[in-house]
Amino acid sequence: MSVARCDYNTDQRLAEQDPVAFWARQAQRLTWFKEPQRVLDQDQHGHAQWFPDGTLNTAWLALDAQVAAGRGEQTALIWDSPVTANKERISYTELTRRVAQCAGMLRELGVECGDRVIIYMPMIPEAVISMLACARLGAVHCVVFGGFAAHELAMRIDDAEADIVLTASCGIEVDRIVAYKPLVDAALAEARHPVRHCVVVQRPQHQAELYAGRDLDWRRALANALPAAAVEVAASHPLYILYTSGTTGKPKGVVRDHGGHAVAMLCSMYAVYGMQPGDVFWAASDVGWVVGHSYIVYAPLLAGCTSILYEGKPVRTPDAGAFWRVCAEYQVKLLFAAPTAFRAIRKEDPQAEQLTKYDLSSLERIYLAGERLDPPTWEWLNEHLQRPVIDHWWQTETGWAIAANPAGYGLKPIRPGSAGVPMPGYQVRILDDDGAPVDAGQQGNICLQLPLPPGCLSGIWGNPERFAAGYLQQFPGHYQSGDAGYLDEQGYLYVMGRTDDIINVAGHRLSTGEMEEVLGSHPAVAECAVIGVPDSLKGELPLGLVVLRNGSNIAEEQLCAELRERIRQRIGALACFQKALIVERLPKTRSGKILRRTLRQMASGQDWSVPSTIEDPGCLDELQQRLSA
Ligand code: COA
Ligand code: AMP
Repeated sequence: MSVARCDYNTDQRLAEQDPVAFWARQAQRLTWFKEPQRVLDQDQHGHAQWFPDGTLNTAWLALDAQVAAGRGEQTALIWDSPVTANKERISYTELTRRVAQCAGMLRELGVECGDRVIIYMPMIPEAVISMLACARLGAVHCVVFGGFAAHELAMRIDDAEADIVLTASCGIEVDRIVAYKPLVDAALAEARHPVRHCVVVQRPQHQAELYAGRDLDWRRALANALPAAAVEVAASHPLYILYTSGTTGKPKGVVRDHGGHAVAMLCSMYAVYGMQPGDVFWAASDVGWVVGHSYIVYAPLLAGCTSILYEGKPVRTPDAGAFWRVCAEYQVKLLFAAPTAFRAIRKEDPQAEQLTKYDLSSLERIYLAGERLDPPTWEWLNEHLQRPVIDHWWQTETGWAIAANPAGYGLKPIRPGSAGVPMPGYQVRILDDDGAPVDAGQQGNICLQLPLPPGCLSGIWGNPERFAAGYLQQFPGHYQSGDAGYLDEQGYLYVMGRTDDIINVAGHRLSTGEMEEVLGSHPAVAECAVIGVPDSLKGELPLGLVVLRNGSNIAEEQLCAELRERIRQRIGALACFQKALIVERLPKTRSGKILRRTLRQMASGQDWSVPSTIEDPGCLDELQQRLSA
């Protein structure tokens, strides 16, 4: 159904004053199996539950409903894989067929509505097909980014209690084969929860060893499967779990529902990005991250667009023109990427000579997220592209943009350094540490007044207490984003950085607490701190500060190499842990808390002062020397 287009101010006001009326109108865009009569309710934990009595199926809406609307022949998904020299266009009809068959395969393996399925795959069509097949059955997918090590995979298998793992024989990192199956085997050996079956896509680049009984060859298992129909589920039924870094070593499973998510995804495609059915939308991310879930898979398909699945890097596959080549080849209208990707391109091609080789006439704008869009990158893109380059801010937890410059309402003037204005549905408030609102221009904790809009997390998998404790308790009536920033007089939001120990490495969110656990397990380490330090390419890089156990005389270089290897084995290469410094002491408060903020300020060359709570100020001189060396 078509929904009348309003202007930004009208929608923003309506969504704030009467969220029920605003979201009821947005929900009319979907073809529900059973239209919701109630718009907003509370679940048993008192958290917002959107469209509680509606029923639908997100995969059906993304595929069957598009075919029924006459888009069967249109390309739904383009797979572009420079690392394997492959390209494939998959129409909506064909994608529906392949998803239904994959759902049939899962059903024959005993997967039922509500069961959890782990997907650990590189950027191949089977990853998208697997996600949609789970959704079709009402099963809950849990995609794990391919760069994570076996231990991370095992933790997710256990937490989700997943019975099935879908994987591939390998991923390809530029020109290096990363064998996935040994990592899966190690994870299955470590996990306490037994996995019944592991289905493996055997890629021509590398054959995985399969263990009879447990492991199945994807093509063989699929060949015998009968297509499965979409299962009608309640709007509140979980669609997926996506694990993200928290401040502890244990990642948290963000849960998203079918109903609110579908409404929000569709709304965002029109309102935030200004997309229409048939447009080509490219989110240059990975299905293992929230950007991939929302904007490679669900939102573009729900909106009848063509989405691109790119198995490559911004550089080296084969050169710094890769992004421009893809945009030109498929007439991409909107490109969404992380700033770090453009820093990598700029480093290799500072004059943007590659860009001039391609016809980019279809490209209307670029949206960036995942980390702060630093002004030099914005300026470079702006100068060379001569198109709107737009920063927008969101999190795994929200699933779609909290603040943006919304093309669907007509772009507002762009203010470099700002992530734009709050999207209708989000009530952004800046609060001081005591929970009092601060004036425009003053920095504080960025919070969202409850209720959160549809599409945001409905909880943390199996851990409602962690949802409440981590996000809702510090500022009653608000969701605490974990970011600090300010709103200016015109309502533009500026996001300045995290208030907790999460760092952002090449657009990847990582927990320093988890890295500290790994470093702390080394026999020579008495105690340690990991902080993020600025990096011109990746935004931030982790740095370890280590105090040795009495009697240990390991050399710094040797320790550094061993710690690097431990982090790679335990968390994964994506952590980019390179450097550790041995120090005499770490600065602590009198209650024994490490003063990480002071360490971060020292390491990034910012002004810092001796904290009044410090126990032993004498240790700061040594640290400053080491950190500035
Ligand atoms: N599977 C296995 N290994 C992976 C992997 C995957 N899916 N993704 C990354 N890795 C490995 C890399 O091979 C690399 O290993 P190495 O240390 O042995 O070389 C390591 O993890 C670090 O990867 P990365 O940070 O990607 O570094 P890079 O030098 O290969 O590439 C960039 C640098 C900037 C080009 C790249 O980080 C990039 O494209 N970033 C954009 C990220 C993004 O889109 N984020 C989405 C959030 S919106
Ligand atoms: P993730 O959950 O991996 O998407 O990471 C979310 C975090 O990345 C946010 O809480 C911010 O700290 C950071 N982030 C994402 N987008 C932006 C942005 N546009 N500006 C500043 N920080 C951002």
